[in-house]
Amino acid sequence: MIVPQLGLSGKSLLKLADLTDQQVLGLVDFAIDLKARKAAHEHLDAPLLKGRNIALIFQKSSTRTRCATVVAVRDEGGSTEYLNQADIHLGKKETVKDTARVLGRLFDGILFRGFAHETVEELARFAGVPVWNGLTDLWHPTQILADLQTIKEYFGQVKGLKLAFIGDGRNNVCNSLMRGCAKAGMDMVDVCPPELAPDPALFAAAQADARRNGCTVSVSHDPINGVKGAHVLYTDVWASMGEESAFNQRLELLRPFQVTMDMARRTGNLESGRLIFLHCLPAFHNHDTDMSRECGALEVTDEVFEAPFSKVFEEAENRMHTIKAMILASLA
Ligand code: CP
Ligand code: NVA
Repeated sequence: MIVPQLGLSGKSLLKLADLTDQQVLGLVDFAIDLKARKAAHEHLDAPLLKGRNIALIFQKSSTRTRCATVVAVRDEGGSTEYLNQADIHLGKKETVKDTARVLGRLFDGILFRGFAHETVEELARFAGVPVWNGLTDLWHPTQILADLQTIKEYFGQVKGLKLAFIGDGRNNVCNSLMRGCAKAGMDMVDVCPPELAPDPALFAAAQADARRNGCTVSVSHDPINGVKGAHVLYTDVWASMGEESAFNQRLELLRPFQVTMDMARRTGNLESGRLIFLHCLPAFHNHDTDMSRECGALEVTDEVFEAPFSKVFEEAENRMHTIKAMILASLA
């Protein structure tokens, strides 16, 4: 397989703003090719990461991002080492800068998940090898690559479609979606209560990308009319990792923003099959987990989550293909 020339060789990916519009779309197309290559078992004959070692530093829990990266790297003949906060000295006995300089001499790349976005920036500044952001409090760029892949696979295109994000309109996933949709030429509306509106500077930067691509990024505080015309309904948990104490307050603010079948119908695109539901996962869609029982907040009904137009498990699988595309673009 020929790795496309995306201009990302040796580069880190900390946020979507680090990529040109063409690089975002190129990574999505590359991931679609890699998915077909895996289905045809071609990766077994010519692995692209043979002899490469990737460190995975995780300060927060993860199912998808961690496993997607492990499988992506293993598929291509490389290996990974999982390091959680308790395993290593990072930030406790050793500075981020020193940790970066040590790990950069041992590994070919580092995927980081954590709290402060400055930590991943500091790692990237000093590691001397590519660093990829697997989620910080501010951004979740690899998630959006998988979202765009899922949208493209369903609709055959991304440009000209409209995505409505409903919920905590200033979290890492929403911040990244604003930017990713604008770069991909999709209209994006952030449907949220005024108290959870996006940071004005991040919103303005996404709008500038959108203007260049002839699409729009907007904010609506109206859960009834805000979703009209959407082809993608997207939500996320009402309180992100590290914000769990805010659940009660969020429950009050976000109750009218729950994604329901009524909301799906109000897009006007459900009946024609021109609507999909996405969620980065994990999702609170029933009371079958300890946390969802405890906090009582469900951002989406079970009916929507389990409906045929819900593509959340395709989206979860695509985390692997897009993370593979990103790592190969940096290293292969
Ligand atoms: N969507 C996502 O990042 O999932 P994990 O928290 O399981 O990695
Ligand atoms: N906003 C969520 C995303 C989880 C993948 C969080 O940060 O917890």
